[in-house]
Amino acid sequence: MAERAGRESAKGACESGAGVLVVRDARVLTMKPGGVDGAGALRGEKMRELGVLPRGDVVIDRGSGMIVEVRAHADAARIPAGAEVLEARGRVLMPGFVDCHTHACWAGSRIDEWEMKLAGRTYQEIMAGGGGIMSTVRAVRAEDEGALVDALLGRLEVMLACGTTTVEVKSGYGLDEATELKMLHAILSARGRFAGTVSPTALLGHAIDAGHLGGRDAFVRDTVARTLPQALRVLHEGGIEPTVDAFCEQGAWTVEECVRLFEAARTLNPHTRVRVHADQFNSLGMVREAVRLGAVSVDHLEASSEADLVALAQSRTFAVILPCCGFHLDGRFANGRTLVDHGAAVSVASNFNPGSAPCASMGMAIALAVRHCGLTAAEAICATTRNAAALMGFADRGFVAPGARADLVLLRHTDERALAYEFGGNPVERVIVNGRVAN
Ligand code: NIG
Repeated sequence: MAERAGRESAKGACESGAGVLVVRDARVLTMKPGGVDGAGALRGEKMRELGVLPRGDVVIDRGSGMIVEVRAHADAARIPAGAEVLEARGRVLMPGFVDCHTHACWAGSRIDEWEMKLAGRTYQEIMAGGGGIMSTVRAVRAEDEGALVDALLGRLEVMLACGTTTVEVKSGYGLDEATELKMLHAILSARGRFAGTVSPTALLGHAIDAGHLGGRDAFVRDTVARTLPQALRVLHEGGIEPTVDAFCEQGAWTVEECVRLFEAARTLNPHTRVRVHADQFNSLGMVREAVRLGAVSVDHLEASSEADLVALAQSRTFAVILPCCGFHLDGRFANGRTLVDHGAAVSVASNFNPGSAPCASMGMAIALAVRHCGLTAAEAICATTRNAAALMGFADRGFVAPGARADLVLLRHTDERALAYEFGGNPVERVIVNGRVAN
């Protein structure tokens, strides 16, 4: 109904030209391959079909923030008087990036730890010594909510400038009830102030708080019994369908503890979406459990066996690969080729965080996924747009079509493969968010 009303008012606006933005003569990656209707993840060879319109015009209603027409490039006479025109001159126009795995809400710095790592200590050794995630936990506990919001907004602006228009942001640097709730409030507050879209995730099982009174078992019990219901309440009050996440790893949460957390979340709210960090360093059996539980995604997968990757590929659970991690930590990468070849719903994300991936750029994640995870440039583009949107439950973005939200990036390039080929710079010329040019 609302969409129809939006379309009607958009039609009126388009006839007059007021409030209309036309991106002209672009190489449009519609992400709508032939034979595929609607939204949803693409798998297998469909991931390589970008639905290219070689010379197209995209008409946007700025009032509703929606795309109203995608058509073959036409002469200027078809542009209504009063419309704003963005001349693409053959450059690539594609959906804004959807970054489906970030820890962009943090305080403090891990640069000293990074230097320790350069001197030979591993991520897990630093974590076992009380640093790593716990050092960011201490910094976040000491920070007030407003400062967390400001820091997050600053990072979101950098991400937006690099073409990311939808961002998942996890909590997880609080661990105790008060700080997890502070993080979720901060993420919700940034969500209300950001031009793009922020989607919060309650990462309640991120680490084990060794300082918790009563020890490990009491910490896990308190997280499940006390923090979890409060976190679900905060998300519910923010109008968010909850997503709960955990880090299943030696030194972090066990498979059994993750399953307890997820089952409790589902008992409290059957609509809870479950995601899990698994097989980053060690394969503990969480991939199969996640599939059994019908998790939305398993993220990382650097240490997964071929058999587990195939099992994941044959399930409904998304595989999220995070190549900035291997680049920053230890040169180990998920085998994206196996995943795509076996038909997985694959997404690629930045994993923006202070410990394993201090990187805001999806262009960089694409460049790395192609070099180290075996994806083609086209597959990586699909994984960072349409598939990531589907993972996050958005049916209105990740593709370029009438009725879609006008979150778009105009690249500096006329060949989308340059997204993977070049690295270290910003491939994005212009970003359009909800129908407005943002830069
Ligand atoms: O996905 N591995 C667990 N969580 C993050 C890292 C967080 C951190 O080191 O602060 C990740 O890589």
